[in-house]
Amino acid sequence: MSAQADYLAPGEGETVFTVSSVPIKFGAGALREVGEDALALGMKRVGIFADPHVLAGRAGETLLGALRAQGLDVAIYDQVRCEPDSDSFAAATAFAREGRFDGFVSLGGGSVMDTAKAANLLSTYPDELIAYINAPVGGAKPIPGRLKPHIACPSTCGTGSETTGIAIVDLKSVGLKSGIASPWLKPSLAIVDPTTTETLPAGVVAATGFDVLTHAVESYTARPYTSRPRPAHSSQRPPYQGSTPYNDIGSLAAIRLGGQYLVRAVRDAGDTEARHQLMFASTLAGLAFGSAGVHIPHAMSYSVATLRHEFVAPGYEERDAMVPHGIAVVLNAPAAFRFTAPANPARHLQAAAALGADVTGAAPQDAGEILAQTFIALMRQAGLPSGLAALGYGRADVPRLAAGAYAQQRPLVMAPRSVSLQDLEGLYLGAMRYW
Ligand SMILES: NC(=O)c1ccc[n+]([C@@H]2O[C@H](COP(=O)([O-])OP(=O)(O)OC[C@H]3O[C@@H](n4cnc5c(N)ncnc54)[C@H](O)[C@@H]3O)[C@@H](O)[C@H]2O)c1
Ligand SMILES: [Fe+2]
Repeated sequence: MSAQADYLAPGEGETVFTVSSVPIKFGAGALREVGEDALALGMKRVGIFADPHVLAGRAGETLLGALRAQGLDVAIYDQVRCEPDSDSFAAATAFAREGRFDGFVSLGGGSVMDTAKAANLLSTYPDELIAYINAPVGGAKPIPGRLKPHIACPSTCGTGSETTGIAIVDLKSVGLKSGIASPWLKPSLAIVDPTTTETLPAGVVAATGFDVLTHAVESYTARPYTSRPRPAHSSQRPPYQGSTPYNDIGSLAAIRLGGQYLVRAVRDAGDTEARHQLMFASTLAGLAFGSAGVHIPHAMSYSVATLRHEFVAPGYEERDAMVPHGIAVVLNAPAAFRFTAPANPARHLQAAAALGADVTGAAPQDAGEILAQTFIALMRQAGLPSGLAALGYGRADVPRLAAGAYAQQRPLVMAPRSVSLQDLEGLYLGAMRYW
């Protein structure tokens, strides 16, 4: 098995990869510095987007205290919807527009950070949300330029949204989840304080932790950047490059940390070591997938999350019924990795090994099954549903699920092998029940 993070010798295709990152401040106590950072970014009147649970706890107190200690004028919006939809983006945009802020701070999970990104965009360069949504669902209108400064402070060990130029939304008019992707959406600074994870319910750690693991494995197994043709002009280089030697380092480290700590972090709320390590994995995986891209499990997740609304996941009981993002993704992962492994068995085996599987003597043709079984074992230990059937899906839903996934061409083109509509139908059937 070859070393993973080697620079690949240039061939016929693309020979260049790029590394661009959001500045990151990581560590216990980092939130105490948010006031100084906001001031340094030129903020005087700050619009805060906050998760109500987090705002009411120690992290909220620390954040508000730190901003006020620097004499900053703050206004708070805490009506963010968990897994936001177009209506909740619109309400947040109205807050951003009316407040006449010169910068934003978000404190919460992906739902809150994505809402802050969208509100910043839509209040700075007003247009219909659908205009900015990725094609073919939306108009994929390029963001005209710089947004107002935004400091993103995650409180879940999950999305990595603090490092990405992505905002995901449930589009009510289309009945699909999709997103906006642009480097201009990247926060100006990520402040990642792992102590925020200590109040997370176990079920939220499970859902968000599997989001981390799938980000990392999908980035690591994405088609390599060298498989694209060389662009005629540097501006034509796509934001998602495919796997690169640089992203591989973070992906593999996140896979290893997730394999080691995810189940511990779910089972024992007092295991701060496990939760803090999972937060580090989340940031590493965010950096990797924000540049490399994700592929089939994420592409399949959007229709899983939008078509059924009866499911109530542990830890999300007080929310409207919905399938949390990490669960909507990981339930597709074993089926998807069985399908992608033949395109690059070595990488799938390396991912399984990093997750903790014994791959001694494994043959290339076993790679998909080994990685799938490693995921399934972790999912069972973390108390996840046994497949899409447990969410209420059946064979009759497969054509609609597959049509929704097939519309997600942005992630699908990053898969290591091409995926047809028929392939997607087979993958959904394969994801119905794992045990
Ligand atoms: N932008 C990106 O790059 C990206 C990547 C992946 C997913 N997403 C999106 O992010 C959203 C999901 O975000 P998420 O998984 O981080 O969860 P979330 O923000 O939806 O929060 C999940 C639940 O945990 C609660 N919570 C959050 N932090 C807490 C804390 N510290 N203590 C107690 N409770 C807390 C929330 O109130 C909520 O009930 C989805 O909409 C998904 O599509 C975005
Ligand atoms: Fe995700």
